[in-house]
Amino acid sequence: MANDKKAVTPVAEPLTLPCGVTVKNRFYKSAMNEALASHDCAPTEAHVRLYRAWAQGGAGVLITGNVMVDHTQLGEPGNIAVEDERDLPMLRRWAAAGAENGTHCWIQINHPGRQSPITINQHPVAPSAGKVDGEYGKFFAEPTELTHEQIHDIIRRFANTARIAKKAGFTGVEIHAAHGYLINQFLSPLDNRRTDEYGGSLENRARFLFDVFDAVRAAVGPDFPIAVKLNSSDVPIAIKVNEQNGAPGGFNEEESIWVMKQLEARGVDLIDISGGTYSKPVIQTNDGAAEDRRRGVYFTDFARRIKGELSVPIALTGGFRNADDMEHALNEGITQMIGIARPLALVPDLPNRIIRDGWCGSVDLPRVSTGVKPLDKAFGGILVISWFELQMHRIARGKSPNPRIGGMRALLFALKQHGPAALAPRRRKGHQ
Ligand SMILES: Cc1cc2nc3c(=O)[nH]c(=O)nc-3n(C[C@H](O)[C@H](O)[C@H](O)COP(=O)(O)O)c2cc1C
Repeated sequence: MANDKKAVTPVAEPLTLPCGVTVKNRFYKSAMNEALASHDCAPTEAHVRLYRAWAQGGAGVLITGNVMVDHTQLGEPGNIAVEDERDLPMLRRWAAAGAENGTHCWIQINHPGRQSPITINQHPVAPSAGKVDGEYGKFFAEPTELTHEQIHDIIRRFANTARIAKKAGFTGVEIHAAHGYLINQFLSPLDNRRTDEYGGSLENRARFLFDVFDAVRAAVGPDFPIAVKLNSSDVPIAIKVNEQNGAPGGFNEEESIWVMKQLEARGVDLIDISGGTYSKPVIQTNDGAAEDRRRGVYFTDFARRIKGELSVPIALTGGFRNADDMEHALNEGITQMIGIARPLALVPDLPNRIIRDGWCGSVDLPRVSTGVKPLDKAFGGILVISWFELQMHRIARGKSPNPRIGGMRALLFALKQHGPAALAPRRRKGHQ
């Protein structure tokens, strides 16, 4: 990290959301599953310490790691599930820590659908039956198709989790509709082959998301921020597939834009733009720095495409590593918030450094490797996720992140934390 100085920055500007709430600056800490939950999927003191560190680090908004609406349906080991008020005291402590220093702390709410690893779930559900394709199939049990009753139960669960989050003191929620999880599965014609009102036309495929959104809004009221994390398309970088800008048959850019406009009309407060699924993940290699050089800020072409089409604030997420890129994106008007995840596991006070100290270096992501090629090939994706989890666990123990930690330690850490369940794929595929 270089240590030059800079004077003023648009990243420091407050932003008022459609619901009337103002956030103090443009740093939007994107969701990172902390893998810190207790065995019964509850938050712990470690969450309190981690979010206090991030809140003191100066971000405007902290999005929590994804919190599940059903403890029998987890996306990965170490997830929190909030289904009732039994963990309210610890949720309150977590929310209060995340809201220190004038920070907003929003819970990300999720249901994994069929992306629930077989090591922790033998009975996943999905819009339609059918295994996950390709090399990933073996990691997931075949899901059963959701009945109407189950769909309505899950919608109620999203609303209930949001209600409890508000009661606990979280200051907003983010609905996870991206990365191939259940809502994304409903949106994708590849995953959703239903013939009822939840499948078929885009309007029907988006109905589940809109029902979830409306139920959450009814649960939290009009003055409470609701964000939606949505794929720009199911392909995380703009590669042409059969002349379509999206996975063949997957959710594509045109559809995403239509969904965003509908969400805007329904009163969403912010759209967090991402992309990808398990088989085409948002994080593509275990060499972060090389990937950053290749991709720059993620989804900028899409963000340029929608500029001027929407008035709802956007958080563009992925690839922001330095103040110049952040300022450029804000000045160009392609985003209103800077969505940033991995750098904050390495430099939790990055917002303060940029806003207060005028720091204008760049956060270099590591190449995470065990040094053993076959291991890297087999566990590349797990290595990266575990490596960042390890850094979050260090912060939660009051230690500084350590960028020199090797891949082997990350792998052993994952095995120690989660047992064999750690070896199912999580959020990105193997080393490429
Ligand atoms: C350890 C880890 C856990 C993640 N967990 C989540 C999650 O729970 N929900 C989510 O929407 N994205 C999750 N992501 C993806 C990030 O929010 C973000 O979209 C991605 O890392 C790209 O942003 P970055 O380049 O700033 O890291 C996770 C990423 C990492 C590295």
